[in-house]
Amino acid sequence: MSIDPHVFVIFGATGDLTKRKLIPALFHLMQNEDIAERCHVLGTARSDWSDDKFRSVAKEALRNADFDEADIDAWCDQRLFYQSLGEDGADFEALQHRIEDIEEQFDLPQNRAFYLSLPPRTYGPTIKQLGEQGLSESDGWTRVVIEKPFGQDLESAKELNDTVHAAFREDQVFRIDHYLGKETVQNLLVFRFANAMFESLWNRDRIERVEITVSENLGVGDRASYYDSSGHVRDMLQNHITQLLSLVTMEPPAAMEGDEIRQEKVKALRAVMPPSPEDVVFGQYSEGEVGGERVPAYTDEPDVPDDSDTETFVALRLEIANWRWRGVPFYIRSGKRLDKKRTQIAVVFQRAPIALFQPGGEPCIPEEAGCSAEPNVLLITLQPNEGFDLRFEVKSPETNSGDMQLDTQHLSFSYRDAFGPIPDAYTTLLRDVITGDQTLFVRSDEVEASWRLYTPLLDADLPVHDYPAGSWGPDETFELLPSWVDGD
Ligand code: BG6
Repeated sequence: MSIDPHVFVIFGATGDLTKRKLIPALFHLMQNEDIAERCHVLGTARSDWSDDKFRSVAKEALRNADFDEADIDAWCDQRLFYQSLGEDGADFEALQHRIEDIEEQFDLPQNRAFYLSLPPRTYGPTIKQLGEQGLSESDGWTRVVIEKPFGQDLESAKELNDTVHAAFREDQVFRIDHYLGKETVQNLLVFRFANAMFESLWNRDRIERVEITVSENLGVGDRASYYDSSGHVRDMLQNHITQLLSLVTMEPPAAMEGDEIRQEKVKALRAVMPPSPEDVVFGQYSEGEVGGERVPAYTDEPDVPDDSDTETFVALRLEIANWRWRGVPFYIRSGKRLDKKRTQIAVVFQRAPIALFQPGGEPCIPEEAGCSAEPNVLLITLQPNEGFDLRFEVKSPETNSGDMQLDTQHLSFSYRDAFGPIPDAYTTLLRDVITGDQTLFVRSDEVEASWRLYTPLLDADLPVHDYPAGSWGPDETFELLPSWVDGD
């Protein structure tokens, strides 16, 4: 799809996301496709910056990201602009004039993307202002991109959807979840629907359980002002992890098109049963050791109140009430300051009905105590070593019948070995915004289906258990599932 000349307006342009992700992603896109003259960036924020100040911050960000020096200066000096913006109508009117000036200067056809990289409480008012100012329509295309979190719970998400829909049509709205831009997350669809071999096993008849691990070894860093009032359910579970869940469990779409795919994801999410509190573990990290270094407890991190009971970890068991999945438990664990950074999906297949290869030779039933039988496991690693690993049993040499011993071996595929470095998620997603492809963006009913699952947990006042930084979460996690697949 071709990239039209446009103005890309960033709300919150002085923030960290703009420097770290948005400017590098836009620049990469323009360089790669050799279309630098089509993308004009207008940064806005409250700060009283000039064009030059915005350009120099962007240049530094691009240099830090190792882009070619000469190209950086030319693009930033010619195509980057800044307009300070308050909250009232006059500010938005001035914004409109600035956009029109840029369009006139470069003879652009009023194609506009508005990217909201703002504190979430300002999404509603900003969208209203865009609508009231008439900025939600133009002679070209107009699109609005909204970062997560989309709402704080089901009710606020519905309210925000109403506000958005009062100004924009759903086909103009791009709710971003950067996990969907990750190459390996998109590849879940290809893996499932281009490889009939696995898809025919992908159901309650062959799968014993599915585990999703999304762990980070980093702590809250300097983001406590946001994270402490959000917590891990809102920060990771409601969005990124639920997206993974829906891609793993959805039915094949009628076609690889945005709405067909999103329709199937919503259907899968609607069949997930809200977890009962006894199937959920919340945790918060205490002091510990990560990667050989002592790290402080969550409550000793900068800007975290001493008595905070915000969860930095969540583990849960979900059931899906549909024909494909009824009876297959889905276990999820995710948290900050865990042992390792890892995003993995482990599909544990049912074991053979009789375990024939036992010490002493006597067969046994796998479910019975003392009977050893390893299941086949398909491990899909999305981060950091992207790829697949299929575990299967082989005979250990020099053991023979009567005392035959088995060994678990691996069939592995590494994405990087096959294809080299993987593009950044934001580059993929911003390209889709500019070309108008909504496949990798979250639809309004998807957001609401996800909040429906977790809002009761947020209201339930669950106990928050301690876990030492560098561990795999509170002990209670292992009451939920005693042996999680070891993804190493
Ligand atoms: C963000 C969360 O959306 O995702 C962060 O706000 C989290 O708290 C991050 O660290 C994880 O993303 P990734 O791509 O590093 O797995």
